[in-house]
Amino acid sequence: MTSTPSNKTDIWSADAYGTTVAPFVAALTNKIVAWLEPQPQDEILDVGCGEGVLTAKIAPHVKRIVGVDASPNMIESFNKTFPGVDARVVDCRHLDKDQSLCNASFNKVFSNAALHWILRDENTRTNAIKGCFDALKPGGLLVSESGALGNVAEVHAAIIGALVHQGIPVEAARNASPWWFPSLDAMKNLVESQGFKWLKGEVELRQTELTNNEGGGIEGWVRLFGADFLSLLATEGQREVAVREVVQVLEGVGRRQHDGAFTVNYIRLRFVAQKSP
Ligand SMILES: C[S@@+](CC[C@H](N)C(=O)[O-])C[C@H]1O[C@@H](n2cnc3c(N)ncnc32)[C@H](O)[C@@H]1O
Repeated sequence: MTSTPSNKTDIWSADAYGTTVAPFVAALTNKIVAWLEPQPQDEILDVGCGEGVLTAKIAPHVKRIVGVDASPNMIESFNKTFPGVDARVVDCRHLDKDQSLCNASFNKVFSNAALHWILRDENTRTNAIKGCFDALKPGGLLVSESGALGNVAEVHAAIIGALVHQGIPVEAARNASPWWFPSLDAMKNLVESQGFKWLKGEVELRQTELTNNEGGGIEGWVRLFGADFLSLLATEGQREVAVREVVQVLEGVGRRQHDGAFTVNYIRLRFVAQKSP
């Protein structure tokens, strides 16, 4: 297992993510997996693979798949659950520096629900995409789904508001966002800037039903995915007040009238880009 240490706190836990809060992320992937079109001869790099549920689902259909993720917690869980699938800790913000992966040996690079985290820092945005390019053989494909402009906007705005009410300056609250949700054109410009040819892309509103279990739902969502925002607050008490406010505010927005289920407006950005043959 190669390892690229990350200087960020590991907010991820396979139990909270895949079991309690967001099992739908790896599950609602029919469209992007159809765009990936796994083939028996494929050698695939899965960027931001998480705890491996989706990677392991693809694995039996391809020659080789390697999962990479910055979270030691996620990779530890991946290795325990799917010991037959290759998974490594790699901070993909610096993927282009990893010579063991960026050696033109894959014919597809795949990424689900991860690029909006990996591309957050604009200083390393091109390094991540260049790494995908360098990992690919000539003619290889980059196939990705991640959050688009406006993704989970109601939750994003409610969290920023709650931080401001706790005395955090609005700019600091905005800057704490761990996500980059680009327009389709911004993503296209980025991947083209690193040599890819854009083959197709789309943006889709996907109103997504959250879990309804202990530790999950919108509260669990905010605690897990909003951890970087909440870390701006000094005390546990302040964080609790902020989480309660977000949940209260969103109660007026996301509750489905016909069955009472709670939904969040996910907006997905999918694309396929190619390294020239
Ligand atoms: C929402 S999960 C998606 C996991 C998986 N692809 C799936 O479909 O279930 C996002 C993943 O991106 C990973 N991630 C965030 N920043 C990263 C980085 N800089 N490099 C690699 N992975 C990163 C997280 O650790 C997390 O496992």
